This record gives sequence, structure tokens and C-alpha cells, in this order.
Amino acid sequence: MMEERHADSQNTVVEDQDTWHELAIMDPVDKPHLVHKDSEDQEALLLNGAKHPEHRPLLVSFALEEFEFPSSVCLEEMPLFPQWHLPLKLMAILMALTFLYTFTRDVLQPFVSQSRSDFYKIPILVMNKTLPWTAISLLALVYLPGLLAALLQLHRGTKYSSFPGWLERWMSMRKQLGLLAFFLAALHAIYSLCYPMRRSYRYKLLNWAYQQVQRNQEDSWVADDVWRMEIYVSLGIMGLGLLALLAISSLPSISDALNWREFTWMQRSLGYAALVLCTAHALVYGWRKWVEPKHYVWYTPPSFILASLLPATVLLVKAVLLLPCLDRRLGQIRRGWESPRPPRGRGVTEKDSL
Ligand code: HEM
Repeated sequence: MMEERHADSQNTVVEDQDTWHELAIMDPVDKPHLVHKDSEDQEALLLNGAKHPEHRPLLVSFALEEFEFPSSVCLEEMPLFPQWHLPLKLMAILMALTFLYTFTRDVLQPFVSQSRSDFYKIPILVMNKTLPWTAISLLALVYLPGLLAALLQLHRGTKYSSFPGWLERWMSMRKQLGLLAFFLAALHAIYSLCYPMRRSYRYKLLNWAYQQVQRNQEDSWVADDVWRMEIYVSLGIMGLGLLALLAISSLPSISDALNWREFTWMQRSLGYAALVLCTAHALVYGWRKWVEPKHYVWYTPPSFILASLLPATVLLVKAVLLLPCLDRRLGQIRRGWESPRPPRGRGVTEKDSL
């Protein structure tokens, strides 16, 4: 590495930008006190960072307050997670809609119909339906654009035509959607695991025990319910495990170490496996509830049905595309084959650019 370090008793002087990067990932305790050659160089380095945010020299000096930066650095002019704006907005909209739906069914309905105050459900129980519903929808939205692109290519009979702008934009934000899905699913797992810790749950358990004694019932074991829970929790854990692998493999340091085949295998095969497991988890959680009229509060279906609709549709379309006749044709198209009479009116791009 092209660098030179001069150590004196007090400070270490660093003369090359690579070294700053190297030091940035060192443990803070091991990090030598950094003093750049002269303050002009340091300002130049920071300005360079402002122009090229990927260099992140700020990590090194760990400047947090505005007065710690050179006056020429204007933080407001630097981009703030531009690729995350749309995925975050989408997540917020989905969360708001799912929250309203669950709130209406689980809190408002008992309050209006039976004057029962179930508002205590909002922080955990309502949230723990909103989070997984949004997570599984975002996960399905990661795989839907790829399927739409495949359908478009089958219809056009060529891969040498540009996708509509909205589809390209959607495809470019799949990583963010997947990471947000993982984040919400992890929160959902933590919320779920703390169910038995809640005071409301303990009171309910005591009440159920008392009612059981009153009924003179010795054993309250329901095998059906036991199996349902063992299976859906296990599926959820496996789904979350795969999502964690996918999230790790999307880190630049990991994905750079994989070749294209390994990366697409992980993101595609493990991604679909995670979607299958999570959808199965939601469906097994629902078990027979979808045929029991009492779960259709105010004529609305239980949330797990709506949560499973989008991922189930994505999996169904994927299964259809895996049919040998379609799979073979898609494979040919993706290797460069073109239909003799492609549909007219498509925007054709440079062959080599795809
Ligand atoms: C450690 C992993 C997981 C555990 C322990 C877990 C546990 C649970 C529990 C206890 C419920 C029932 C919630 C309730 O009573 O309202 C549930 C429902 C659900 N979970 Fe998970 N889960 C896990 C992972 C996941 C993952 C990775 C996803 C998908 C991204 C997911 C999606 C769902 C969905 C869609 C529901 C149905 C929610 C509804 O009623 O609308 N879960 N899960």
C-alpha cells in the first residue's frame, strides 16, 4: 500500500487516504491519534468526501457537530439516503394501511359492538400484525418485478427491448425493499417472543385457568392447536433465518466476494425459499380460521388471509413460469433468441447493453 506513517511519541501522522480508510475500520481503542500532515490536506480530504460520499472520510475524524467540519463543507447539500426514499415511503404507506385495518378489527369493533376497551392491544398485538403483514408484502414486492419482466419478455419474444420506466425503477429498489422486509420481520419475531412476558397475557392465563377449574376440566391440551403453533413458529424461524442470510449476502463486502452465479443463486433461490416459508408460516398460523365465520369481523377477512394474498400470487406466477414449456422459452430468450415476429411498438435497445 502506498503510504508512509511517521510515529512520534504523541501522534501518528497519516499521509495517504487509503490508510484513513484502513484505520476507519479499526477498533477505536487501537486507533492511533490521527493528525493529518497539515490542515489544508485534511480540508481537501473532507471536500473530496463531500463530492464523493462513498469515500466517507467523516468516519475517520468522527466529526458530529457542524463546527467540527471545515466551513466549506455544507452537510445539507450532501445526499441523504436517496435510494431509500421511495422504499421507505412505500413501507410507511403499507404500515399505515395495515395498522388501520387491524386497529378497526381488533380494537374498534369490540369497542363499538360490545363497549369493550381493548386499546391495550395497540402497542404489541396490533403492531405485531402490522409488522409481519408489511414485511411479507415488501418481500413479495422484491420478487414481483422480476416476474413481470419475465412475462414481458415472453410476450415480446426478446430480451432486447427496454422495460417501462416504472418497472426499471421498481427493479432498482429491490435491495432496499428486501432489507426493510428483513428489518420488520426481525422486529415481528422479537415482538412475538415477548408475548408471554406481558402482564395482560399473565392475567388472561390466570383467567383461563380459573374458568377451566370452574368447568371441572382437568386437561386443556388441544392437539390441533399444539401442532399448529409448533409448525408455524418453526416455519417463521426458518424464514427469518433465510432472510438474515439474504441480508448478509447483500452487504457489499460479501456480495463482492461472490461471483454472479453464486449471488443470483442466493438472492433468487434462497429468496423464493424464504417467501415460501414465510407464506406457509402465515397460512399455518391461520389454520382453519379462514372457514370460521366468527373471524370475519364486520364482514372483513382475517388479516393473515390478506397478508398471504400477494406472496401467494407471486409464488403462483413463479410456479407457472417454471412450467417446462415457458421455462424453456424464457431460457432461450435470455440467451439471446428472438421471436421471428416480435410485437410492434416496443422500444428496442442496443443488444449489447442488456
Ligand atoms: C422467529 C421468527 C418468527 C416468529 C417467532 C413468528 C411468530 C409469529 C406469531 C406468534 C404470529 C401470530 C401473531 C398474532 O398472534 O397476532 C405470527 C404471525 C405472522 N407472521 Fe410470524 N414469526 C416469525 C417470523 C416471521 C417472518 C420471517 C415473517 C415474514 C416476513 C412472518 C410473517 C407473519 C405473518 C404474515 C403473520 C400473520 C399476521 C396476521 O395475523 O396478520 N413471521 N408470527
